[in-house]
Amino acid sequence: MEKMNVKSQVAPYPYQRLAGKVAIITGGASGIGATTVQLFHENGAKVVIADIQDNLGRDIVNKLGGKNVFYFHCDVRNEDEISKLVDTTVAKYGKLDVMFNNAGIIDRPFGSILDTTKPELDRLISVNLVGAFLGAKHAARVMVPQRHGCILFTSSACTAIGGLSTHAYAVTKHGIWGLVKNLAAELGKHGIRVNCVSPFGVVTAIGGTVLGEDELAVAEQALSEIGNLKGQILRADGVAKAALYLASDEANYVSGLNLLVDGGFSSVNPTMMKFFNPEEETEIETETETETESEPKVMLRSNL
Ligand SMILES: NC(=O)c1ccc[n+]([C@@H]2O[C@H](COP(=O)([O-])OP(=O)(O)OC[C@H]3O[C@@H](n4cnc5c(N)ncnc54)[C@H](O)[C@@H]3O)[C@@H](O)[C@H]2O)c1
Repeated sequence: MEKMNVKSQVAPYPYQRLAGKVAIITGGASGIGATTVQLFHENGAKVVIADIQDNLGRDIVNKLGGKNVFYFHCDVRNEDEISKLVDTTVAKYGKLDVMFNNAGIIDRPFGSILDTTKPELDRLISVNLVGAFLGAKHAARVMVPQRHGCILFTSSACTAIGGLSTHAYAVTKHGIWGLVKNLAAELGKHGIRVNCVSPFGVVTAIGGTVLGEDELAVAEQALSEIGNLKGQILRADGVAKAALYLASDEANYVSGLNLLVDGGFSSVNPTMMKFFNPEEETEIETETETETESEPKVMLRSNL
């Protein structure tokens, strides 16, 4: 009898983990968003790519064969455009199951609060935080009457440890994490789950440069050297897979989570690590000494 009960509770692992679901992905034309579009689509979701890079967005639609995917021009700073994005999605596909608020920008690599300008702060807040807030608001507008849904955000590992990014960027990503907790509290009663994924550095076009193969390898290697988990490199698909889990029914009781995809980076105190592993410290120093001048610059363009 016991055996039967266990069997009845464990569903076979579905190949298409988002079969029948409808998802919007903002910032879906590039980087983490574009990879997530592809992964969600492969997993049976109908996907709407929302972005301002129209050519890139349409290219992805063509690459995916044009079925169960469409591109919608949407500047996330504009509430009317977000509202239309959600309404168009529901008109076309009948519902909205997953809203992935992923669009984001960075400012400069690092800098003091003393030289942070107000326009720079406003620019970051308007895309990263206000855009994500509006996406969540209009998703909730249609998800509350549905009595189910999943609202996801891309935040950052800078929500778990200080000093990884500029202050302006950190403010926007902490704002998202605060919003996740508050929305999970409000929307749980309507069956809506709210979570974010928080990556360590991933080399994408976010710094404004599409890197060639060699530069990409250098940048990934540099990030890997700063990272805690060795033998792995975090790429966009590592973040997309975390988003897939949170969007799927496998996470049906997961809400209010900041899912760090950082190889343990933010849990480790590097000062203590150096103290307990002096040999490793020497090794790292040697590697740093052999870096060419251009390497750190490439590395720093990929903000965490
Ligand atoms: N790459 C990293 O190291 C890293 C680390 C942590 C968090 N993140 C976050 O991941 C998310 C995706 O970044 P990415 O690295 O894939 O960068 P990316 O530049 O490759 O992709 C970001 C996408 O957002 C779009 N976008 C920008 N402004 C927009 C606007 N106003 N309206 C609609 N779309 C807009 C861009 O056109 C682009 O397609 C961002 O929120 C970023 O902050 C990135």
